[in-house]
Amino acid sequence: MPRTTYQPKSNPRKQQLNPLDTFFLDQARAKELDDPTAALCVFITKESGDYPTGRTLVLRNIDGQLGVFINKSSPKWNQKDQGISLQTYWPSVEIQYRIKASCVTLDPKLIRHSWKQRPETPQKLDWFYETVKPQSANLDPKEAINLATKLKELILPDQSTAPNSATGLLLEPFEFEKLELRSRDLPHHREKFVLIEGIWQHYPMVP
Ligand SMILES: Cc1cc2nc3c(=O)[nH]c(=O)nc-3n(C[C@H](O)[C@H](O)[C@H](O)COP(=O)(O)O)c2cc1C
Repeated sequence: MPRTTYQPKSNPRKQQLNPLDTFFLDQARAKELDDPTAALCVFITKESGDYPTGRTLVLRNIDGQLGVFINKSSPKWNQKDQGISLQTYWPSVEIQYRIKASCVTLDPKLIRHSWKQRPETPQKLDWFYETVKPQSANLDPKEAINLATKLKELILPDQSTAPNSATGLLLEPFEFEKLELRSRDLPHHREKFVLIEGIWQHYPMVP
């Protein structure tokens, strides 16, 4: 029976594009060029009233997946349940990514292990959030002046153990948008990848 509409033939040998691989390759190029932003992302959540808010976090590669280390006492811990977005821009390679992802809590064993490698002040801050005030709470003016001393004096309940509030998220992206700047004579290259029923669909976009 003749085909009346155009149906592209599927090519089973064609490798499925995984945008996470491309993301890591682009990031590796930025790292090679000593780009100071290569390891960073803006982690975007919705505050109450749906107002968007972003903050810079170190973006980790955890066994080939994206992850972040955060503290549960921060407002972003609850905000993440409404969905998160990530944004990166690496000036060295002129590439921007916008990523939508769901998240799951990282294995506590991994958190405990990596927490031990942290410098003393961030470790003490994690215990400060746990025992004195949550992260991002307001400080009284006097508390603000004395914070450094207070942290120095803080005796960790157990020098080598992360508090329960020190945690991390494994990010499971379902949408990537990549914008690659091109030289003046060429339009920028923009494309989107959306995970639909386990398969990445690719959409070129108007830049
Ligand atoms: C370069 C840079 C890296 C940062 N990395 C982290 C990080 O990995 N984890 C983190 O919780 N905060 C990190 N921060 C601090 C956050 O931007 C933010 O101030 C803090 O997490 C409080 O966020 P909140 O208002 O959502 O509670 C970093 C800040 C900068 C400038």
